[in-house]
Amino acid sequence: MTTAIKFWAVVPAAGVGKRMNADRPKQYLELAGKTVIEHTLLRLLSANVFTAVAVAISKEDPYWPELEVSGHEQVITADGGKERADSVLSALKSIRDLASDEDWVLVHDAARPCITATDINLLIDTLRADEVGGILALSSHDTLKDVQGKNIVGTLDRSHIWRALTPQMFKYGSLKNALEIAEGNPAITDEASALELQGLQPKIVEGRPDNIKITRPEDLALAQFYMEHQND
Ligand code: CTP
Ligand code: MG
Repeated sequence: MTTAIKFWAVVPAAGVGKRMNADRPKQYLELAGKTVIEHTLLRLLSANVFTAVAVAISKEDPYWPELEVSGHEQVITADGGKERADSVLSALKSIRDLASDEDWVLVHDAARPCITATDINLLIDTLRADEVGGILALSSHDTLKDVQGKNIVGTLDRSHIWRALTPQMFKYGSLKNALEIAEGNPAITDEASALELQGLQPKIVEGRPDNIKITRPEDLALAQFYMEHQND
């Protein structure tokens, strides 16, 4: 008997949002009538592909238990970690008895509330037969400069440069293993980089430009604008 492959979502949500400079972590700021993290989770849940969503939350977080979505039957709460990669690993461990190594995991930043079902389905449909997995990414429209101090020392070949977004989709077993091996390595800023360290070559899938990460104060208004204009 073969078990059907499942899809899990993992949402790192244990950051403090330093660059946002607000009175609370950015995932709890309000945007179009809900907090950022509620938008993110409700969009993942309504895509109807995930068995459950494992969310990494800081132990000192007083906001999470107040949200109705924290008690949703498909939402699993895990402890956050020091860095984003630690939070992701902790969330993966929280589903170790439920997930099998061959299941797919889509890791998605809590701070990207404009994620669409279109992009989730595109990523899954493009990569479900792939050996390694991969990530949503965007090309850069601007010319990219290599700078030392304030001096330009070169111009990068833009055709080879992509901006890594989330979700990032990998097999449960290989992602957990790669993050365990890379633990404490500051170069691991996303899931793909942990797999790259293993010599693997994750794929890129061109995503939508409205899947922005809320990073600085002005991003909230931009996210609101995108949400008002999204109809899928
Ligand atoms: N994150 C996490 N655990 C950490 C750090 C970050 O789960 N130790 C999460 C954040 O909550 C966010 C995502 O990883 O959803 C992307 O990180 P980023 O945009 O850098 O968020 P923050 O680290 O909160 O922001 P900043 O870097 O400005 O402090
Ligand atoms: Mg950060």
